[in-house]
Amino acid sequence: MRSTASAQRYQFRNSPTQLHPLQEVLDPITLDELARLGITAGQSALDVGAGAGSIARHLCELVGPTGKVIAVDLDTTLLAPTGILDVYQRDLRTQPLPAEPGTVDVITARCVLEHLPNRHFVLNQMITALRPGGHLVLGEIVYAPVSVHAPTSDDNELIARVVHGVLDVLAARSVDLHWGDKTASVLLANDFDRVRTRWVAETWAGGSPGCRLYADNATQLRDKLLTEGLTHTELDRFAELMADPAVLVRGYQFASTTARKPY
Ligand SMILES: C[S@@+](CC[C@H](N)C(=O)[O-])C[C@H]1O[C@@H](n2cnc3c(N)ncnc32)[C@H](O)[C@@H]1O
Repeated sequence: MRSTASAQRYQFRNSPTQLHPLQEVLDPITLDELARLGITAGQSALDVGAGAGSIARHLCELVGPTGKVIAVDLDTTLLAPTGILDVYQRDLRTQPLPAEPGTVDVITARCVLEHLPNRHFVLNQMITALRPGGHLVLGEIVYAPVSVHAPTSDDNELIARVVHGVLDVLAARSVDLHWGDKTASVLLANDFDRVRTRWVAETWAGGSPGCRLYADNATQLRDKLLTEGLTHTELDRFAELMADPAVLVRGYQFASTTARKPY
């Protein structure tokens, strides 16, 4: 029987082959959210689960040399501190966020809370760290059925099985693929205003950043997908299809929620 600790361990490695395509797919959405908030020079920001750091670096550009950005992650190997950016290694399942209560102007967390078993507790810490009138920018991959256009019906069926297999493996290991659908309700219950969620999903062509992300996720979860009934041959074919420009597949659905802490 799987232990609770193992079920709640983070399921991926922070490799550039995963995080760079993730950033290419999601940064346009998150940067658009940040542009709407009117972040100004000298403000402070916190990026929770900063990964390879594209959002933390963008926040540094927004707050400038008189501002401060803190990036926190379990794995900080892809994060480089600068005069503006402080980097903290933290396991948020057991360690607190490095931020004083009521001090931070904007807090971002993308594709992080859904992975944390104590996501409500970490969100409460983020709410406490925000100053009144400060903003949250939260994003999550949420469950959605996949649709595919591939060269053959067998390929269509295989891509759907692998993508659903990845989502099923994550869901079976305590990743909440519906958390992004619930974020707005949780923030409303905490009296946040300007609460807004948008759901985004687009087609990804073979070879594009999105299909490279699908391929990397299936590679990282390969052992688990094999135990779920997929074969090496099928997973090798999936990798080929994710590089084939003739393939068009519905990408992961992303829920992006912004909200303002009440004064
Ligand atoms: C899917 S990646 C997203 C990275 C980044 N936010 C982005 O969207 O580009 C999830 C991130 O959460 C971090 N993470 C997972 N579990 C964590 C934990 N227990 N404590 C701190 N960070 C964690 C991972 O190391 C990884 O960087």
